[in-house]
Amino acid sequence: MADLRYRRARNLADSYGQVFTPAVVADLLIRSLPVPVDGVRSLLDLGAGQGALTDAAHRAHPAARATLLELDPVLVRGLTQKPKRNRRVVQADLLQGQWRPATAPSWILSNPPFGHMAVTEELASEVAQSALGFEPEGTWLRGDVAFLVKAWNMAAKGTSLGFIVASPILCDPIYSGIRSTLAREMGELVVTQLPEKVFDRAQVCAHMISGRKAVARKRGIVLRKATVEGEIVDELVIDQVAARASLDIDYHRTIERLGVDLSRMRETLSSAGALITRGSRSNADYKRLGLEAFHTTDLDVRGGDVHLTGGEPTGHQIARAGDMLIARVGSRCIARQARVDGGAGPYTDSVYRVTVPLQHRQRVWKTLSSSFGTEWRLAHAAGSCAKHLTVQTLASMPLLPA
Ligand SMILES: C[S@@+](CC[C@H](N)C(=O)[O-])C[C@H]1O[C@@H](n2cnc3c(N)ncnc32)[C@H](O)[C@@H]1O
Repeated sequence: MADLRYRRARNLADSYGQVFTPAVVADLLIRSLPVPVDGVRSLLDLGAGQGALTDAAHRAHPAARATLLELDPVLVRGLTQKPKRNRRVVQADLLQGQWRPATAPSWILSNPPFGHMAVTEELASEVAQSALGFEPEGTWLRGDVAFLVKAWNMAAKGTSLGFIVASPILCDPIYSGIRSTLAREMGELVVTQLPEKVFDRAQVCAHMISGRKAVARKRGIVLRKATVEGEIVDELVIDQVAARASLDIDYHRTIERLGVDLSRMRETLSSAGALITRGSRSNADYKRLGLEAFHTTDLDVRGGDVHLTGGEPTGHQIARAGDMLIARVGSRCIARQARVDGGAGPYTDSVYRVTVPLQHRQRVWKTLSSSFGTEWRLAHAAGSCAKHLTVQTLASMPLLPA
């Protein structure tokens, strides 16, 4: 099924990211949250939808006073038509204006919209000033990042956050500042990877984050993996350095299997001056144009050293001698690489060209073609986080010692 959470939404429900949490996942989120010694007195449900998270919270803590914030008037009507005890519904846009609870609640819960949204100046400056550790670039922002910043700013020390977010916050290098803040400043931090098919109308890689905003902490961070039935089938404890790299259990299981110490691998493709560039057109386009372009299928049969014969047609990205070519997408070929030993030619947009200054070329090739290099790429691309490698992810790839 198509991913419904994308930038150009087909209708209002899509643009609001209306994918509702099944009860089994909502219950798991509630069970993962720290409970204050005097019980859960109040909770805030941001983007409450049909109230799945509050319903689960009330199953476990019926006395908690809940405030449900929702933007969509249709859903607000649905929530208010069935009045329930200890529940107040507020219609407001969390991301416009200054709605805030009068006092910080015991819990803040949210399964926010995951899509990208245009940022107002006010919101951009709130995100930039937030202590969560992320500075937006440009005019778009992920909905889950915006909601998390809002919740972080509303939380007091002692408030627990229970969030369902998409995998970029957990894996993408551009959100490493958020991961560091969560790892440093959330007590009892647990990150649970959810299976892709957990939501009814969307196939997404989502994770649950739960923990209590606290003073700086030193304990380990628990990463877990859940089934659609809400059962925990794997668990791993990592430290703060590892949390900055990724909060995804698949990634850390791979690193563990490879036996590498990430804290000692400080140099990356990016610090070696590598330029990573995607090809100009699709394979089908090149076929239509009658141009010979290097494609991921060539990695299957021509991995290792390749001689390109496509020439240098103008208006296309060209790979030349010394460049390295790796797959951007594809679960099998993502672990293969080729080095151009001569000639020149265009390459498709499923392929990245990695151009590295001469003094670092040998080391980068050694890393890309090592079992570490291939497993690392597989961990990022074929794991739960993404079905392709982003430029930022690849740029953050650690280099093996020279
Ligand atoms: C992914 S759904 C989750 C709904 C519900 N919390 C659940 O877990 O089933 C996100 C909800 O956020 C609401 N929403 C989207 N943008 C919002 C905004 N700016 N302010 C308040 N609510 C918003 C949507 O209408 C939708 O109901």
